[in-house]
Amino acid sequence: MNATEILQELLSPAGRADPFPLYAAVHRLGPVLPVTDDVFLVAGYAATDEVLRNSAFEIPSEPSDQPALQLMQRSILRANPPDHGRMRSLIAQVFTPRRVATLRPAIEAAVDGLLDDLLDDLQAEVDFMDRFAFQLPVTVICELLGVPPDDRHRFRPLASDLTAALELTDASDASADAAARELGEYFAGRIRDPGADGLVSALVAARDAGDGRLSDEELLANLILLLVAGFETTTDLLGNGLAILLREPGLVPDEAFVEEVLRYDSPVQVTTRTARNDAEISGTAIPAGAGLVLLLGAANRDPQRFPQPDRFDPSRTGNKPLSFGAGAHICLGNSLARLEATIAFSRLRERFASITPAGEPARRDRLVLRGYQSLPVRLLRA
Ligand code: HEM
Repeated sequence: MNATEILQELLSPAGRADPFPLYAAVHRLGPVLPVTDDVFLVAGYAATDEVLRNSAFEIPSEPSDQPALQLMQRSILRANPPDHGRMRSLIAQVFTPRRVATLRPAIEAAVDGLLDDLLDDLQAEVDFMDRFAFQLPVTVICELLGVPPDDRHRFRPLASDLTAALELTDASDASADAAARELGEYFAGRIRDPGADGLVSALVAARDAGDGRLSDEELLANLILLLVAGFETTTDLLGNGLAILLREPGLVPDEAFVEEVLRYDSPVQVTTRTARNDAEISGTAIPAGAGLVLLLGAANRDPQRFPQPDRFDPSRTGNKPLSFGAGAHICLGNSLARLEATIAFSRLRERFASITPAGEPARRDRLVLRGYQSLPVRLLRA
């Protein structure tokens, strides 16, 4: 198989369901591979890390007529200098490690509340995605944003519809646009009435601090981004991690376990960049204007960087997966996601004598955001 065939296969239902053999095939061909004259696949760990850290590679910014993509494009995730640095310093200012650390008791309470509901029966059969993995991140992110608890149930389908627009194959999707509109209306309301605490009021204050530091459109786009970025990805981390614990119940679900889940089955498998000028990466010449498809999930399984990459092994030393990206756009929520997952897995272990499969799990049919649609489990109280 050549690089073009591998990319085609990755975008097919079979490739989305199990991209890992295709990643192994890419690694046999090389770290950076031309698909056409101006599209390249980047799969090597060192090459991916270099592209992410090198400011000669920008976020692709071709104008879109799709409202869902237009919305994302106004957010930090799709911004380039100088807008990116301006937005990042404002958001980082209100999204500090200290603010994240103060969320620990709220995360513990949210985890325990969800587990209490599951513990009503001595033995329960439930869908882990539905009853836990979807619930926890939305509760936590709404807490952080300062969004009223009663509004939370609305966000799951909206976030899912909106992020479908991030898949490389969905050129136009009416449900993504409808979700963008509905979330836009919702957050416009929150901006008018931001409440006393939380990121919404902190970012409204940043906008109002004068000299156009955050435009109204940027404020709205970034609030919606924070909701969806902090929600589906963490849901997928919880589901992907639990699926591994079901297969290997003897594992200790500590921080090293979470790190290895991030490497082995990353919730974000792909991102993209554009070359601003002619460049060379791992010996391959990249012409100005070329598009790069960065296979984060493949970089995390690069045999040059991770011995026996297809083995799940939390005891790896120097385990630094690229699941949160690297460089200027490195995930702002990475410590929050790690904290949520670590608390969730350790509490699950403490409170249940056993968690076993109760049926066939179903993957979501996505490549970019990788996770489960449903994960049926049988829980036995400790
Ligand atoms: C396991 C969970 C998560 C994963 C795997 C993840 C992954 C990523 C990745 C790969 C990027 C960089 C994309 C690129 O460079 O093209 C990113 C950016 C970002 N993430 Fe996360 N993320 C997670 C959770 C969160 C959470 C919980 C939040 C917020 C509450 C968040 C907020 C953001 C933001 C704001 C950015 C954009 C940063 C920028 O462009 O400067 N993420 N994330």
